[in-house]
Amino acid sequence: MNFPLILMAMDTGFIIKNAEFVTSVSPGQNYPVPLPLEIAVVGKSNVGKSSLINRLTNNGKLARTSSQPGKTRLINYFSMNSGSFYLVDLPGYGYAKASKTEQESWARLIEQYLSSGRVRHLFLLIDIRHEPTENDRQMFRYLVFYNIPYTLIATKSDKIAKSKRKQAANAAAKLLGAPPYAIPFSGETGEGKEEILERIRQLLSDAEREA
Ligand code: GTP
Ligand code: MG
Repeated sequence: MNFPLILMAMDTGFIIKNAEFVTSVSPGQNYPVPLPLEIAVVGKSNVGKSSLINRLTNNGKLARTSSQPGKTRLINYFSMNSGSFYLVDLPGYGYAKASKTEQESWARLIEQYLSSGRVRHLFLLIDIRHEPTENDRQMFRYLVFYNIPYTLIATKSDKIAKSKRKQAANAAAKLLGAPPYAIPFSGETGEGKEEILERIRQLLSDAEREA
């Protein structure tokens, strides 16, 4: 009986049909009305969080991106498929030029958000080319401590040879202290997009079942 296996391997073709910006939340402000599923994208500054959201939604202009680290400063909410779920773009950590006050304000904003109980799943982004930073490891320990489900995504996969991508993504996950699996992803080419969309489809179906 291999029927369930065939089902699992099938391309379900889940897509994000529409996406719209909802609001930016700054420290102390209210979050928008909750939806059954809220997925937040987290990772160091410049790793490609906003680019991931744009690629998943096929909208290059939805989340602002920049080659200058520290572009996203607030918690940006995007509603997907007419209010089916949120993708949340978080400001990045480890921005070298950030002042101590800015770093503290980042930590407060993120800590408030992660402990709010709203986020159901985190996409933790790491750069496929480099060893995870101390900040990456800290973030990983944090989400394990608070028991937040996550998926690891290794970004900028187009920057290394195709033959090395899987191995490099998994090695980065292992160095983070996680089980050795990360999805290689490129905001430039769209590699890994289908696997991430399939993950979202599963999360949506879990959320619907629990509702
Ligand atoms: P902050 O908002 O500062 O935290 O950064 P971010 O994580 O949102 O990064 P962003 O998406 O703005 O991308 C940073 C830079 O990296 C931009 O110049 C992007 O064009 C580039 N970039 C993002 N993803 C990829 C990728 O997969 N491949 C390549 N080659 N460049 C990428
Ligand atoms: Mg950003």
